[in-house]
Amino acid sequence: MSFKIVEQTRPRLNRSELAVPGSNPRMLEKAAQSAADVVFLDLEDAVAPDDKAQARKNIIQALNDIDWGDKTVSVRINGLDTHYMYRDVVDVVEQGGERLDLIMIPKAGTASDIYAVDMLVTQIEAAIGRKKRLGFEMIIETALGMANVDEIAAASPRNESLHFGVADYAASTKMRTTAIGGPNPDYGVLTDPLEDGSRAFHWGDMWHYAIARMVVAARANGLRPIDGPFGDFSDSDGFRAHANRASILGCEGKWAIHPSQIPLANEVNGPSEKDVQQAKRILEAMEQAQKEGRGAVTLDGKLIDLASIRQADNLVQKAEQIAAKG
Ligand code: GLV
Ligand code: MG
Repeated sequence: MSFKIVEQTRPRLNRSELAVPGSNPRMLEKAAQSAADVVFLDLEDAVAPDDKAQARKNIIQALNDIDWGDKTVSVRINGLDTHYMYRDVVDVVEQGGERLDLIMIPKAGTASDIYAVDMLVTQIEAAIGRKKRLGFEMIIETALGMANVDEIAAASPRNESLHFGVADYAASTKMRTTAIGGPNPDYGVLTDPLEDGSRAFHWGDMWHYAIARMVVAARANGLRPIDGPFGDFSDSDGFRAHANRASILGCEGKWAIHPSQIPLANEVNGPSEKDVQQAKRILEAMEQAQKEGRGAVTLDGKLIDLASIRQADNLVQKAEQIAAKG
């Protein structure tokens, strides 16, 4: 390990994060009944400009009146380039009560963006005597945000998670796609011809670099990396595949833009019983190896060593977190 210890953010279960438009009070109520670990009440892109003021009022009422149970509750404010953002923060933090856990900052571009929101939130918390410190989730969804992802991740002790906003990221980088996540049939490689002249086209994952880059920035700063939306909510297989590859790259969770995506995200981002059993076997084998003064052994014909303990520990700890939630 490095001499520098990476302090980990407050641990929260974040397998699924449900997006709910603040303009729809009925959906706000239903979100509280859902199985999502985190719910974000949206003031940004799911709310039309003429509805912003009413959505703010709905969200403040929902934060005060609805029983959110053990969910983590977040509010997505508008971008710092709009004139809505300051009032989102002032009204929601001043009037939303203690139930709010997180503020989601969209289109984070530089560390100063986070600094500006931090300054505002810190003043309001002090002025109203808020007991619980609000945390921040940042959406990385612009070329500028991705270029500055390391400094954004390190910008405030309030920071808890980075989210990959695939739709705005595609727009900002001018990628050739109109879908929200998912593959593009034109993005792939054509194999060289085999002896019989046949060639195969292999689809590639056009989001791989962006997600992997964000995961590194998040983990290097002790934050949770979370994969963003998958727009085609009628395609559960597509969602599962998309969520799986982000989870394998290190993401802890994925957004649900429709309630049907919540159980899928929870399933993919919780280790399977088989994975947990295997992790426990690895830990047992390594415990035995250490008693015998060995740093590496074989299990089922494969090498395991001290790094295997850290990998297996991650899985077991996640399973315990899920079990504690019940
Ligand atoms: C989310 O905000 C996205 O742009 O994908
Ligand atoms: Mg966006």
